[in-house]
Amino acid sequence: MKPKEPLVPLERTVAVDLGRRSYGVRVGPGLLGAMGDAVAALPGVTGAAIVTDSNVGPLYGQRVSDALAAAGVQAALIEFPAGEASKNLSTVAGVLDALLAITPAVDRATVVVALGGGVVGDLAGFVAAIALRGMRFYQCPTSLLADVDASVGGKTGVDHQAGKNLIGAFHQPAGVMIDVETLKTLPRRELIGGLAECVKHAVIRDASLLDYIEDRAEDILACLGDVMTELIARNVAIKAQVVADDEREAGQRAHLNYGHTVGHAIEAQAGYGELSHGQAVALGMVAANRLAVGRGLLDEQSAQRIERLLNKLELPTRRPGLDADKVWWIMQHDKKALAGRIRMVLPTKLGAAGIFDDTDEQALRDAIEYLGSP
Ligand code: GLY
Repeated sequence: MKPKEPLVPLERTVAVDLGRRSYGVRVGPGLLGAMGDAVAALPGVTGAAIVTDSNVGPLYGQRVSDALAAAGVQAALIEFPAGEASKNLSTVAGVLDALLAITPAVDRATVVVALGGGVVGDLAGFVAAIALRGMRFYQCPTSLLADVDASVGGKTGVDHQAGKNLIGAFHQPAGVMIDVETLKTLPRRELIGGLAECVKHAVIRDASLLDYIEDRAEDILACLGDVMTELIARNVAIKAQVVADDEREAGQRAHLNYGHTVGHAIEAQAGYGELSHGQAVALGMVAANRLAVGRGLLDEQSAQRIERLLNKLELPTRRPGLDADKVWWIMQHDKKALAGRIRMVLPTKLGAAGIFDDTDEQALRDAIEYLGSP
């Protein structure tokens, strides 16, 4: 009998085209092991500092450190407590202290490797943006949310008492390495949360991605390797295109906020941690769709199709008992509200979106009430 061809797992590379700040995003299984060669290939590297958290460090810190050492790059490991509560300036100060205490001393040829989910990527990227007036950094995301959103596009920063992500800088990574095997250790709730951002990308940019997610929903929930590689690469390609068109969010990058205006308010109203970010964004997309249907932008069938898909992915589309008045109050007091106006991103059809500053107050309140309906 003829021996079977060895199975070659899928690997993809997506380019983020930003002139001299361009970089590549590699997606596939086992890529943490490729981090050594990737970092060593950056011009003039003198060493690395792996910044990670107390969840991801014990799982993957040594593997990345070994990969770097095998490529001749010595790396220090800096770990901070996992969780959104760490995403603040005092953790930044602690990480800077650790970074500047490394011997031999770090210089601008040292590379910061951000190993972890969104909090790690945002915080380590911000440290890299400000330490020594700017160090190179490599994103090594380990959560689906970070894979498809935060690791690409150069938004870095931390939270402030006055709101989330209010302190930060645009600082593009030198590269992004997405090892899909890390999703196997991701809590299911976080996997599902990341899927909300995948649906978001499909609705605002690519209706055929919606078909793909519908067709492969079971494989996605089972985290099948090749399917995850394909899913993540397609999402990264959308994000890369949006960022290449509008790096500093002067316009169309704001489409990525679809589902987030109402979503953030629901997240804040519930108390952070009660609902995952992805669950809140799913609810926010449902509310935005109600507005889009009301304005004649989106047909009812498409809105229902998105709700069915969210449910299939185990994401919520209703929140019985939702305090609509409170959500409304939070939205009006959001620091990002423009002179009291609430800016909404609405789908204009499946695969396209627009920005609307003229949302009718009653329509928005009705859309929030809809979420509380059975
Ligand atoms: N996560 C939204 C953006 O990168 O613009």
